[in-house]
Amino acid sequence: MKKQLFTSAALLLAISALPALADDMTKYQEESRKVAKEFIQQLGGELQKEMKANGPVAAIKVCRNVAPAIASEASRKNGWRVARVSLKTRNPLLGLPDAWEQKVLSDFEKRMENENPAGMEFAEVVTEPQGKFYRYMKAIPVQDACLKCHGTSETIPQNVKDALNSEYPHDKATGYTLGQIRGALTIKRPL
Ligand code: HEC
Repeated sequence: MKKQLFTSAALLLAISALPALADDMTKYQEESRKVAKEFIQQLGGELQKEMKANGPVAAIKVCRNVAPAIASEASRKNGWRVARVSLKTRNPLLGLPDAWEQKVLSDFEKRMENENPAGMEFAEVVTEPQGKFYRYMKAIPVQDACLKCHGTSETIPQNVKDALNSEYPHDKATGYTLGQIRGALTIKRPL
C-alpha cells in the first residue's frame, strides 16, 4: 500500500513535470532561434557590405575576424557556447564539430533528400559528463554569395584562391554548390 501510494505520487509528479518540460523546450528553442538568426543576419550583412565595397579578397577578413567575434559575443552575453561548425572546415580550431554535432550534421545531410536545408534544425537535451545541456543546431545552406569563397574551382576567383591557400593551407571548405549544407550554427546551453 505504502509502495503503491509512493508510485502514484511519483507518477503524478512526473506527469505534472511534463508540460513544464515541453514549455521549457519551446522557450529554449525560441531563444536559440533568435540568437541563431541574429548571428547569421549580422554576419551576412557585414560580409555583403565588404564584398560590395572591396571585393572577396578583402571580405576574407570579415569571415576570419568578424564571425568569431560575433560568436564569442553571443556566447558571453548568453552564457552559452555559440559557434559555427562543419564537416569540412576551413578553420579547424573553431569549426570542428564534437561527436554530437557530427551526428546532427550527418543527419542534416540525409534529411536533404526530402527537406529544404533553409529551415532545417535539431534540438535535444543531453546529459554529458559536465552536466545537462540544451543543444540546438541550425543548418547553414550554401547561397550564391558563398560560392566565391566556398565554391568550386570555377566559381572561386584566382586571387581568392591564392589568399585562401596562404591563410588556410588546410582548407577543406571548398567544392560546394548552391543549396548544399555548408555547416551549422550550434548552441550549447547549460541547464
Ligand atoms: C570572402 C570569402 C568568404 C565568403 C564570401 C564566405 N565565406 Fe565562409 N568562411 C570564409 C573564411 C575565411 C572562413 C574561416 C573563418 C575562420 O578563420 O574562422 C569561413 C568559415 C565559414 C564557416 C565556419 C566553418 C569553417 O569552415 O571553418 C562557415 C559555416 C561558413 N564559412 C559559411 C559560409 C556561408 C554560408 C557563406 C555564404 C553566405 C560564406 N561562408 C561566405 C570565407 C568566406
